[in-house]
Amino acid sequence: MEARAQVDHAAQIAERARAVIDEVARVFIGPREIIELLLVSAVAKGHVLLEGVPGVAKTTLAKAFAATLGSTYRRIQFTPDLLPADITGTYVLSPKDGTFVLREGPIFANVVLGDEINRAPAKTQSALLEAMQETQVTIEGETRVLPPPFLVIATQNPVEQEGTYPLPEAQIDRFLMMIQMRYPSREDERRILKSFMSVVPQARRVLGPEEILWLQEAVRGVHVEDEILDYITALSAFTRNHGRVFLGASPRASLGLLHAARARALLAGRAYVVPDDIKSLAVPVLAHRLVLTPEAEMDGTSRDSVIVEAMQKVPLRRGAG
Ligand SMILES: Nc1ncnc2c1ncn2[C@@H]1O[C@H](COP(=O)(O)OP(=O)(O)OP(=O)(O)O)[C@@H](O)[C@H]1O
Ligand SMILES: [Mg+2]
Repeated sequence: MEARAQVDHAAQIAERARAVIDEVARVFIGPREIIELLLVSAVAKGHVLLEGVPGVAKTTLAKAFAATLGSTYRRIQFTPDLLPADITGTYVLSPKDGTFVLREGPIFANVVLGDEINRAPAKTQSALLEAMQETQVTIEGETRVLPPPFLVIATQNPVEQEGTYPLPEAQIDRFLMMIQMRYPSREDERRILKSFMSVVPQARRVLGPEEILWLQEAVRGVHVEDEILDYITALSAFTRNHGRVFLGASPRASLGLLHAARARALLAGRAYVVPDDIKSLAVPVLAHRLVLTPEAEMDGTSRDSVIVEAMQKVPLRRGAG
């Protein structure tokens, strides 16, 4: 497949993207930007963490989005007693011929919803995060590749609760994006109430797995000017030199931003990245990876605010569009 030729389908791609977002928006009532971020992430081959307090439609959104992708979909409810093998699978004795056969765990799906990921202990979280990193799993010493597309949407509740295990920083970094789910506006909440008075809609399939793979491939045809690369590295450098930041954005974070920006451009029907792609993705791609200093944590500085400050202070060199 020739990547550049695929960009010629620009208008068609943008139309497909809109169709996915419209379909999810029938079920999830809230900012379209959130749905758009999910799609950008999927096309950038990135995993997403949805964070928010209980009852703000994290599960609803993840399920609706998965349904529009029309791929194999599994949900894993994380609980304190969940074991790594409950995710990856186990060998079971076949009564027919007395041999051991693999019973694949729920990780063997195109879209995996890891619901309430911080409710399982670290060892079980690692099974999921390793699969995300390697797109393969090791079961009793045997390695199995997870067939593409493979996308994890995880949810977590940020409120410190008894029996929760916060994800370690190194693992948070495995997520291309973290999306904050907030309370709906009064208007949206009214629409949610209204929609529940009639039949609650179900999301239907819009894209198939082949189409996702095709889009993921087409990202490579999106052009990026040097000025855009400079802008990305300057934003990351800003976070590393910030007085309230203990650990800034890594090169993996910069690469994530570049990749997501190309996917966003593609889905907008553009063959090149514009500064606005970077600006609208910097918070969801970078903020969750920052580790603030203890003082900054104490006085309630938010990681988002550091990224917003970076965008205000880092100049965009002329010629970058
Ligand atoms: N923005 C919204 N659009 C549509 N339905 C919503 C919205 N917000 C809440 N709801 C409805 O509220 C209920 C709770 O949503 P859901 O279970 O998805 O929340 P959650 O964030 O996953 O909660 P928890 O953290 O407890 O798992 C569902 O019936 C859902 O349909
Ligand atoms: Mg939920």
